[in-house]
Amino acid sequence: MSPSSSVPVLTIDGPSGSGKGTISRRVAETLGWRLLDSGALYRAVGYAAGMEGLDLSDAEAVTRCAQTTKIRFQAAADGGDTHVLVNGHDATDELRTETAGAAASAIASIPSVRQALVDMQLGFRKAPGLVADGRDMGTVIFPEAPFKVFLTASAAERAKRRYKQLKEKGLGVTLATLQREIEARDARDASRTVAPLKPAADAVFIDTTGMGIDEVVAKVLAVVQS
Ligand code: C5P
Repeated sequence: MSPSSSVPVLTIDGPSGSGKGTISRRVAETLGWRLLDSGALYRAVGYAAGMEGLDLSDAEAVTRCAQTTKIRFQAAADGGDTHVLVNGHDATDELRTETAGAAASAIASIPSVRQALVDMQLGFRKAPGLVADGRDMGTVIFPEAPFKVFLTASAAERAKRRYKQLKEKGLGVTLATLQREIEARDARDASRTVAPLKPAADAVFIDTTGMGIDEVVAKVLAVVQS
């Protein structure tokens, strides 16, 4: 057993717009645990591949890119959102767009790209604990995690949440386009052969449709405290 295997992990998986990001951050803050935003890693690789002008379906080239891209998370000086540095460039804003989400989803279906990111993800498991946010945290990366949650919400509600988030960040999108993009991304994430989006058999399933953030946070904390 490696020393890190005694560190508790709470996995929070689910589709885009299920509230995972916000909920994971709040739960990690409350518990005083570290946070792994695994989606940001896939977004960063998709972004780096785009910057290099790679064809996103070129498995060999994108895998090399995943192996060599330097990704760093940096706490914001003002206590705001964590910044993501990709090969030294602050790409936080670029990574939030739906274009970056679609690029991430495209490269995430390549098994060797996923493999290239495994060690980096395992490295986040440090005392006193880890909240791991993603699609395959409870099924593939931390299958032995003691606490697992799968968050979801109706597609219409998820599109509305993402719309509000992107609007607040000043990004121009229409609700109808966003809902189509989210459904297409979810369909691809759920149907891929490697690490498809699906709840771990031992995950607590929470449908957050119509629930406020505080209510969901309380339900997730209850899983850890039970
Ligand atoms: O969570 P987020 O929207 O940032 O993830 C972007 C994309 O990265 C997802 O649509 C998915 O294709 C991919 N991803 C993944 N496995 C993870 C996290 C994200 O395949 N653990």
